[in-house]
Amino acid sequence: MSVRIYISRDSGALCVGAQEVAMQFFKLAEQKGLDIEIVRTGSRGMYWLEPLVEVARPEGRVGYGPVKPSDVEELIGAGMLDGKAHRLSLGLVEEIPFFKSQTRLTFKHCGIVDPRSLEDYKAHGGYKGLAKAIEIGPEATVEEVVNSGLRGRGGAGFPTGFKWRTVAATPPQQKYIVCNADEGDSGTFADRMIMEGDPFVLIEGMTIAGIAVGASYGYVYIRSEYPDAVEAMEIAVRAARAGGMLGKNIAGSKYDYDMEVRMGAGAYVCGEETSLLESLEGKRGEVRAKPPLPAHVGLFGKPTVINNVLSLASVPIIMIDGAEFYKNFGMGRSRGTMPIQLAGNIKHGGLYETAFGITLRALVDEVGGGTRTGRPVRAVQVGGPLGAYFPRELFDTPFDYEAFTAADGLIGHGGIVVFDDTVDMAKQARFAMEFCAIESCGKCTPCRIGSTRGVELVDKIVAGENREANLVVLEDLCHTMKLGSLCALGGFTPYPVMSALTHFPEDFGAKKKRLEAAE
Ligand SMILES: Cc1cc2nc3c(=O)[nH]c(=O)nc-3n(C[C@H](O)[C@H](O)[C@H](O)COP(=O)(O)O)c2cc1C
Ligand code: SF4
Repeated sequence: MSVRIYISRDSGALCVGAQEVAMQFFKLAEQKGLDIEIVRTGSRGMYWLEPLVEVARPEGRVGYGPVKPSDVEELIGAGMLDGKAHRLSLGLVEEIPFFKSQTRLTFKHCGIVDPRSLEDYKAHGGYKGLAKAIEIGPEATVEEVVNSGLRGRGGAGFPTGFKWRTVAATPPQQKYIVCNADEGDSGTFADRMIMEGDPFVLIEGMTIAGIAVGASYGYVYIRSEYPDAVEAMEIAVRAARAGGMLGKNIAGSKYDYDMEVRMGAGAYVCGEETSLLESLEGKRGEVRAKPPLPAHVGLFGKPTVINNVLSLASVPIIMIDGAEFYKNFGMGRSRGTMPIQLAGNIKHGGLYETAFGITLRALVDEVGGGTRTGRPVRAVQVGGPLGAYFPRELFDTPFDYEAFTAADGLIGHGGIVVFDDTVDMAKQARFAMEFCAIESCGKCTPCRIGSTRGVELVDKIVAGENREANLVVLEDLCHTMKLGSLCALGGFTPYPVMSALTHFPEDFGAKKKRLEAAE
């Protein structure tokens, strides 16, 4: 019987040489007449171990990594096909502490299934969630999602079930499901991992959403920087259609649902839901004023559910194991699990799915192992470019929407970017304003003009020019942007700026003196 080897085709693995490693296995297998089968999976999310090669053994998958093409011959010679030890041995992959300590619900199959095979997805329990939704019908499906406590994983944390209920309540007509896969936040890659590693779970989640609210068509809007994810999704959509899981009478039921993949053109603001809808309609990505909500007047003026990849990909497990099961994880009003992404200057960067409630300290120091440079951690930015910077004093904050809001921060899409003690926080504050100036859609003044004035102000403060007065103006400007912007791009840019100023005043020159004087 041939030996099965798993190598990721996730773009995070490809960019460190996974393709070359796979090719080397193919080449040597042919030369040496080895009976091996190579399955290209998604990533397990332990990026410091990529390219990771896993060998199927009766006791589980045994891992070796990070593997270079030049290691392959030696590995085969050492008996890796029989799971034997080598300097790159990692033992059973699922026993590696980073992996073992997770609660994988949304990412249950990522890194395990063949993302191009509908049969493999089904063999691992795929499409059981859809079967349940078909069995219990639209209303009960919406209620199951409501009861699970699932909140949108794209950033705002709005209850997914409530959104579905609103669309379901609109009169029967053409309705749409739109999946937001723009994933523009710094340090985030969970959406990409799902699309590349387990695309059918997203298709299944979108199909369930379609049945639940009475929408017969859907779109996945993927950022242009994700060509591998676009390819993976297109292949999976075709396979699902060919297998009767998309199109007319899906899975032999009375329901019709089909979908397609669309690529963005590279603007952060196109991740904002109304801007995304404009872009999908072929227009310039400019934010729409709300109301009306997309749930009432969305894509092409029709009622639309717009959800993040992770929100939709969490639905099948909720349908299979039930709202009660899912709700049992988490704390407060943050229920279930969150796929947290550890990035930046961190030793063990990757995807860590766990129940809400884990502290920042546990995530950064224990799970992530501190900085890659070995220097002390000085700050982390949580929630993308609009998220606050947290100093070590706030590391006991639990990963929970409300706890982060109370600490003047946000969870966003679950990205954590780590900085060591060489970071200049005044530069980071300047960067936040500059980012906003570049990415602003230009519709409203506080964001369009305010961000450029913000860059100038930080420059003046750092240069010591009228510092005290300019600090007051900067705070005032942040206040105006926060309250006067139409969307969260202008409205949340003050978070990184003000958190840098509040927690790291020494980087802004005389600020410390000013804060002390104010006390
Ligand atoms: C500037 C800006 C960028 C955003 N980018 C994204 C994004 O890349 N992906 C995403 O899912 N949501 C993004 N959002 C949030 C969306 O507007 C929206 O809340 C989300 O798609 C709703 O899905 P959810 O409820 O499942 O989170 C962004 C919001 C803003 C203001
Ligand atoms: S805050 Fe900025 S991005 Fe948002 S609508 Fe206003 S100008 Fe556009």
